[in-house]
Amino acid sequence: MAIVPRVKLGSQGLEVSAQGLGCMSMSAAFYGTPKPEPDMINLIHHAINAGVTFLDTSDFYGPKTNEILLGKALKGGMREKVELATKFGAVYDGAFEVRGDPAYVRACCEASLQRLDVDCIDLYYQHRVDIRVPIEITMGELKKLVEERKIKYVGLSEASASTIRRAHAVHPITAIQLEWSLWSRDVEKDIIPTCRELGIGIVAYSPLGRGFLSSGSKIMEKLEDDDYRKKMPRFQLENLEHNKILYQRINELSTKKGCTTSQLALAWLHHQGNDVVPIPGTTRIENLEQNIGALSVKLTQEDMAELESIASAEAVKGARYGAEVPTYMNSETPALSSWQA
Ligand code: ATR
Repeated sequence: MAIVPRVKLGSQGLEVSAQGLGCMSMSAAFYGTPKPEPDMINLIHHAINAGVTFLDTSDFYGPKTNEILLGKALKGGMREKVELATKFGAVYDGAFEVRGDPAYVRACCEASLQRLDVDCIDLYYQHRVDIRVPIEITMGELKKLVEERKIKYVGLSEASASTIRRAHAVHPITAIQLEWSLWSRDVEKDIIPTCRELGIGIVAYSPLGRGFLSSGSKIMEKLEDDDYRKKMPRFQLENLEHNKILYQRINELSTKKGCTTSQLALAWLHHQGNDVVPIPGTTRIENLEQNIGALSVKLTQEDMAELESIASAEAVKGARYGAEVPTYMNSETPALSSWQA
């Protein structure tokens, strides 16, 4: 199996595996029924032993049970081998909500530390930015948590370029997590250039387009009734009819390259630079191994150009999220002057 290189994430000293592991689907209800705990612990150990040590979870996944799973998996000397990333701020209680007020930030951090059963979280992200709370206020509390050594590094997910800039001025942001893949490229316009200008690491979530770039429209046959993807715009029949052409074209190129479509999709991200760390999610050891294999796929400039022409904005129909999560995408926060604690 390929050796998983180590890379620097951001400019504050965090070093992670060049590919991470998204743990959401192991226990969250979003992608169907939670998977058997012993199998998932085994998968996490397999990943760590293979060199995929950058583990991604959130209090939102499960909710909460994914962190508990990781807490169990990291017993017996595993904790020291990993870079542990979790998140706060996204809440689902019948409807989606986002929070970034200081008391909430602190309470979430304490609760995550307990569930994970660790003294310190390596990378703590705000999962979605709260459009009611100036980012300076949220960052002020995160900075205190760093000073208290409850967290080592700070990240944001789905933040706008200006929110990232404002946050970074309060306390250095180590990583921005964003949806980036061959079918989600809007972040290339201003968010990625902003991260690069500020020396912030880039963590690409859903790098396999939630499985669409791995299986194309066939993925629909595998989804359980309560799988959240069944509600997502890009997975609706009328959009899938259009989007399947994108998959077919990626598939043709992957055949030429002698790799799978998943590997090609991940290799495209690995070739964006050492500051980009994709975190594919999987619940299967064979898929984990295949994803690690993407690190050995070499793409030429011509391959990259061909992929970029295939993966144009016009090639994809449907928004990334549905209307039930209106403030979830690369959001702005209000001006600091508007804040009344
Ligand atoms: P997310 O970040 O939301 O988890 P993703 O990483 O883009 O999304 O894709 C995850 C999906 O791709 C999952 O459905 C996963 O299914 P398994 O749990 O069955 O693996 C699927 N997936 C991941 N790696 C894959 C691979 N190499 N081949 C096929 N499907 C894969």
